Amino acid sequence: MQKAIEAISDQLLAVGFEKCTFSSPIKKSQELRSVVLSAVSNPLEIKAELRLQKHNDIKTIVKDDFISNHLSEYLTQFKQCLVKTKSAETQILINKKLKSKIITKTTQQDDGSKAHNREKKYLLPDGEECPFLIAIGVMGSDGWVKPTHYKKFRQINRFLELVDDLYRTQELEVFHAVDFGCGKSYLTFALYHYFKNIKQVDISITGIDLKQEVINHCNKIAEELSFERLRFVHGFIHDFKTDDPVDFVVTLHACDTATDDAILFALRHEAKQMMFVPCCQHELNKQLENEESSVLLKHGIFRDRMTAIVTDTMRTQLLEACGYKVQTIEFTSLEHTAKNILLRCVKVDSDKKRSQEALQKYLGFKQQWNINPYLEKQLREEKFIESEL
Ligand SMILES: C[S@@+](CC[C@H](N)C(=O)[O-])C[C@H]1O[C@@H](n2cnc3c(N)ncnc32)[C@H](O)[C@@H]1O
Repeated sequence: MQKAIEAISDQLLAVGFEKCTFSSPIKKSQELRSVVLSAVSNPLEIKAELRLQKHNDIKTIVKDDFISNHLSEYLTQFKQCLVKTKSAETQILINKKLKSKIITKTTQQDDGSKAHNREKKYLLPDGEECPFLIAIGVMGSDGWVKPTHYKKFRQINRFLELVDDLYRTQELEVFHAVDFGCGKSYLTFALYHYFKNIKQVDISITGIDLKQEVINHCNKIAEELSFERLRFVHGFIHDFKTDDPVDFVVTLHACDTATDDAILFALRHEAKQMMFVPCCQHELNKQLENEESSVLLKHGIFRDRMTAIVTDTMRTQLLEACGYKVQTIEFTSLEHTAKNILLRCVKVDSDKKRSQEALQKYLGFKQQWNINPYLEKQLREEKFIESEL
C-alpha cells in the first residue's frame, strides 16, 4: 500500500501530471463510484470530481492535502487507479488484502532521468544539490531528496512558498528574523537560504529553543554551512530579549501560550510580518464554556478542536486590534496534520477606529465562550490595546 501511495503522490506532484482516476469500487453497493483528479492551472492544486450514485461533487483541492488526507482512503475503496502524466501511464491494481501491483508504461520519449518524474514547481527543486538540505539530512549528496524525507521536503517548500508570497516583490537590504521554538530548525535553515541565496538579502536570523542539545546541533550545522548570520540561542521564548530591530517573527508548532509570548515579542519590536502555526492549546481548554454548545463541549475531541479554533480566533482578532492584517492558511504539517493552521500577519497603517471595532468584536466573542486569555491580559498590561474597553 505504501508503495502505491508513493507512486501516486509522485505522479500527482510531477510537472506533467494530467489525470488520475480511481475506479472499480471494492464494494458494489458503495455510494462513491469513481474519483477523477485532473490538472488545473495552479500546479499545486487539482480538480477533484467525486462521482457518486446520484450526483457528482466537484471541488478544487491542494495536492498536498489530497495526498495527506484522502489518498490512502481511496486506495481502500477502489480496485484500480490509473495516473496519466505527459510522459507515462501508471496503473495500480489493489487486491482485497490491500496489496498493490504497479505497472508503469512510458508514453513519450523519456530522458530516463529521475528529474523527469520528480521535478516540481518548487522553490527548492528535487534533483538539484542544495547544501543546507543535504546538511540537515533531507537530501542525499547526489542532490535527490531521500524518499523517507519527502514529506519534510514538501513542508519546507510549502513554508517557503508562503514566505515568498510575502517578500517576492519587496526590495529588502537588511533583514532580521527570529524563529521561536525552532527545534531541529529545518524551516529556519530554509528561511536563511531563501533570504541569503534566493533573494540575496543581508539576512540575520536568531533561532530560540529551550533544548540545549538541539541548539548546539543547529549552531554546528550553521557553522559547517558558513551561514554566518544564523545563530541559535538556548532559552525560553518568554525570556528572549534583543536590542536589534526585528522585521519578521516565526513560531511554528510551539506549545500553548508560547505562541502568545512570540506575538508579544513581535509587537514590542514592531515586527512588520509574523507567521505562526500554533500547537496545543491548553490554556483555554478548561475555560471554554458556552451553554448553546454544551452538547459539543462534552466530547473531549470536539472540545480540543473547538479550543484550537477559539484560541486562534481570539489571537487573530486581538492582532487585528493591534493593527495587523491576519490571514488564516492551511499549512501542511509533518507531525500534526490536525494542527496545520498558519496565521500570517502583516502590519498595516494604524487606524484607531478599525482597532476599536476589532476589539469590540473580540469582547463579544470572549463573552460568548467565557474565556479570559493570557494574551489579552498581557496586551492590556503592555498597553497594546486600550485598557478601558
Ligand atoms: C514541535 S517543535 C517544532 C520545531 C520547528 N519549529 C518546526 O515546526 O519544525 C516545538 C519546539 O518548540 C520548543 N519550545 C516549546 N515551547 C518553548 C518555549 N516556551 N520556549 C522555547 N522553546 C520552546 C520545543 O523545545 C520544540 O523544540
